[in-house]
Amino acid sequence: MPEIIVTNRAGTTTSITAPTGISLMEALRDSGFDELLALCGGCCSCATCHVYIDPACAGTMLPASPDENELLDASDHRNETSRLSCQIKLTDEMSGMKVTIAPED
Ligand code: FES
Repeated sequence: MPEIIVTNRAGTTTSITAPTGISLMEALRDSGFDELLALCGGCCSCATCHVYIDPACAGTMLPASPDENELLDASDHRNETSRLSCQIKLTDEMSGMKVTIAPED
């Protein structure tokens, strides 16, 4: 059960744990982060699950696919740490990862 340290849009930081194998989006949604709308349910078509990932953890996950990159490019708030949380499958290796929910577009 990886521990994820989440900062919400208000700037409050909380630690959550979630089972491996689910997506980061599902972990955030199941932990009550309602501001993460995840409107498409994880189909990589809405970008409302945009988060910023601690760069130190970038090596623990697959890089963004072309579809994910295209959606992120449409965001006014993309930066070099941007990811769509529905495209990240949690692994034990990610324990301690810091995640910040991106501003709403
Ligand atoms: S939930 Fe829609 S792109 Fe992630």
